[in-house]
Amino acid sequence: MLQGKTIVLGVTGGIAAYKAAALCSKLKQEGAEVHVIMTSSATQFISELTFQTLSRQNVYTDTFDERDASVVSHIHLADHADLVLIAPATANVIAKMAHGLADDMLTTTVLATMAPILVAPAMNVHMYAHPAVQQNMDVLRQRGVMFIEPEEGLLACGYTGKGRMAEPEHIVEHVKQWCATAKEQAVSEVALPSKLGHDAELQPGLGGGEELLSGRTVLVTAGGTLERIDPVRYITNDSSGKMGFAVADAARSMGAKVILIAGQTQVAPPEGMEVIAVESTQDMFDAVTSQYDNADIVIMTAAVADYRPVNRATQKLKKTGEKLIIELERNPDILEELGKRKMHQFLVGFAAETEHVEQYAIDKLRRKRLDLIVANDVSRSDAGFRSDNNEVLIYEEQGLVERIPLMAKTGIAKRLLHIVAERLPAGSGQRMLTAEEVRSLE
Ligand code: PMT
Repeated sequence: MLQGKTIVLGVTGGIAAYKAAALCSKLKQEGAEVHVIMTSSATQFISELTFQTLSRQNVYTDTFDERDASVVSHIHLADHADLVLIAPATANVIAKMAHGLADDMLTTTVLATMAPILVAPAMNVHMYAHPAVQQNMDVLRQRGVMFIEPEEGLLACGYTGKGRMAEPEHIVEHVKQWCATAKEQAVSEVALPSKLGHDAELQPGLGGGEELLSGRTVLVTAGGTLERIDPVRYITNDSSGKMGFAVADAARSMGAKVILIAGQTQVAPPEGMEVIAVESTQDMFDAVTSQYDNADIVIMTAAVADYRPVNRATQKLKKTGEKLIIELERNPDILEELGKRKMHQFLVGFAAETEHVEQYAIDKLRRKRLDLIVANDVSRSDAGFRSDNNEVLIYEEQGLVERIPLMAKTGIAKRLLHIVAERLPAGSGQRMLTAEEVRSLE
């Protein structure tokens, strides 16, 4: 699976460094050429010789230890890597990467590489939850760095919780999935201009990934809506906004103008787009419908509350009897309404399911008159709500379009948008008119 791939494996100074030996060996068994860079702290936990023996390559620990006069080692490694994998990644190296520091062999290579970067953090549970670490990770995510979340369990420091580096088998699986998707993406990017035929000439830039959505306006919703019970209490859900933000950022990087409508979220929205903050489902309904005419593509990633309290107390509710019954009433279904009003727009919904995924997803697709629906299993802890990763099934009216295996939400978003771009009618006669063109006809 990894035959012909060059992987730079960065090992940093945590107890999980010992697991990196198994990781190195497994990557090698899958056919990858593995070049290991260790930080000086990593050498306190495991020896250079271990990695040299397993990888059958020189191990790098010092930027200035240039063994081959014909190359500058960190640039050479950076240029030749298909993937840079950092496992385990300490809070320190994550912070250095987020701030662009380059004071050792690993961080100089990371800064110099154009290859994708995959990071498997490992640290104490409180360190991992610390806002500084989480913010650094968010910054890196926005730059396209992928993360394999640590697992929960007993940590070497004695605590139990989230912080244990993902198992080497899991990381290798992730690398293989990334590799398969990257290959598919490359094929679809090469295939697209020929699929579009003469139309590609009519729409300059459609052949390249970066320009696939140029001239289009993409409306994305993200996060969860929130329904107030009284001034201090509310009903909401677990959506962090990560999936929607990844979709919005990917659309922007593919040349689209993006309007992002965000409910309650736990991470910062991406830059380079108009962001409209909303609270309740009704607020989201108003914002989305007011922007609908301007949109060519709508992707509803938000987790929308189906019900709201009939009465919203203006003062904080006081304790009264043993039970408090809150009466709820139906919220509008935003996507269903968009389906009814659909003109030129390409509509994509997300389906949060726990069972009968295909049946429920296709039912939503038909009921809401969608072009595509992206189903995810929200009962999983390693995907769906809040996780950095997701695994999705994309359906159209005729059935399954593609199953995207577990990977970073940023990767899912890019692949989804490629699938959307492939389906936009192309060519002067049948091309979907952009929102601007529709207005100019009116
Ligand atoms: O934000 P994250 O933590 O990254 O999590 C991502 C996610 C799990 C929220 C996301 O991947 C996801 O599944 N979003 C859809 C959540 C949802 O509301 O699903 P649903 O099956 O209830 O609704 C189907 C579609 O109808 C959705 O596109 C939803 O936005 C839309 N809807 C639902 C109800 C409603 N009243 N109006 C709507 O428009």
